Amino acid sequence: MYAPAEPALSLDLLLTSPRGDLPSLVAPWNPTRLVAFDSGKSALWGALRAACLGRGDELLVPAYVFHAVLDPALALGLTCRFYRVTTAIEPDLDDLTAKIGARTRALLLVHYFGFPGPSRALRQLCDERGLLLIEDCAHALFGSGGDGPLGSVGDLSVFSLKKILPVPGGGILVINNPNLTFTDHLSAPSARDVLSRLVGRILNSAEAVSGWSVKARLLSSHEFRRLLARRVKPRQARFDQGLNIISAAIARRVDPSEVTRRRRANYTRLLEDLPAPGWIRPVFPDLPRGVSPFCFPIYVENRDRVQDYLLRRGIHARVYWDVAELPAGALEQCPDTASILERILTLPIHQSIREEHIRRYCLALRGAHLIAGVT
Ligand SMILES: Cc1ncc(COP(=O)(O)O)c(C=O)c1O
Repeated sequence: MYAPAEPALSLDLLLTSPRGDLPSLVAPWNPTRLVAFDSGKSALWGALRAACLGRGDELLVPAYVFHAVLDPALALGLTCRFYRVTTAIEPDLDDLTAKIGARTRALLLVHYFGFPGPSRALRQLCDERGLLLIEDCAHALFGSGGDGPLGSVGDLSVFSLKKILPVPGGGILVINNPNLTFTDHLSAPSARDVLSRLVGRILNSAEAVSGWSVKARLLSSHEFRRLLARRVKPRQARFDQGLNIISAAIARRVDPSEVTRRRRANYTRLLEDLPAPGWIRPVFPDLPRGVSPFCFPIYVENRDRVQDYLLRRGIHARVYWDVAELPAGALEQCPDTASILERILTLPIHQSIREEHIRRYCLALRGAHLIAGVT
């Protein structure tokens, strides 16, 4: 059996008729404007362009973030300053407030793993201090929280389609603030890039159907994963590219309520059946109404050995993120981010995961407890 980290592309989905247009799918709250990009990073670039931010301006960002997310800001000449994220994966509001400086123009709030961050509190802070609020909903498509749909409170919000749907890339910029506008010209992404991503998606889906993954076997050595995390990866070279037509066509066929229903059902089942707490702890022990979870993050002892063990059993558990994947300066400015990075592991609970996968996770985690030497 193989539990893929990402949802599989199915024939059923391809054969359904389109259900609606992208704006109503992504932002069902009547925003000022929606612009479709090639990736979540490009959408973030679009947000910074719409906010007219550039050299000399400072963006306040969480210290717990993948380094490439900040590439669009760096490409535009902005400086990033980091605020602390607690082990409950929430912004430390005191630290964040203390970090606002004379050049700070905007604040990035990430809704980690689909769970809502404190949008209203940050909205109020931004209004008081004259800052723009950018909601990063890359993990949070179709989600909502106590403050309404995720992405509806910020001046701008950005989404990543490929994290939640089986598509070859795509990102959406939502502009909520009527005083902001995006006027840049977007070019089409290269057909070669889109096709190679599509082939990747099809191979992943074939692995999911066959129940066996070469990739999971290769990744089941933590030394190998370390090497991969540390290698210099090709960076996204440009950000001014629009959404490809294949992703748009697939996304329009998705039923958001069904995606959320399946993700929530898997999350709930895992919460109920997870082996006794102690050496494993769910990062989010409750699933509030409206949340469409991206994955199931746990804190676990001997994390790397447990990950090896799960991968060898075909469970594509991922780490968000390795120390080497953090942006330069994040750990220096907020050293205790390390306590998240060292212990976090995530299990897939997306729409292609079934009950038998969840049973397998629980069995494997019990086995990991005995065999991986976790005490
Ligand atoms: C929090 C967050 N925001 C934005 C992005 C960028 O999304 P994309 O990979 O679609 O460019 C990522 C990707 O890792 C992310 O984790």
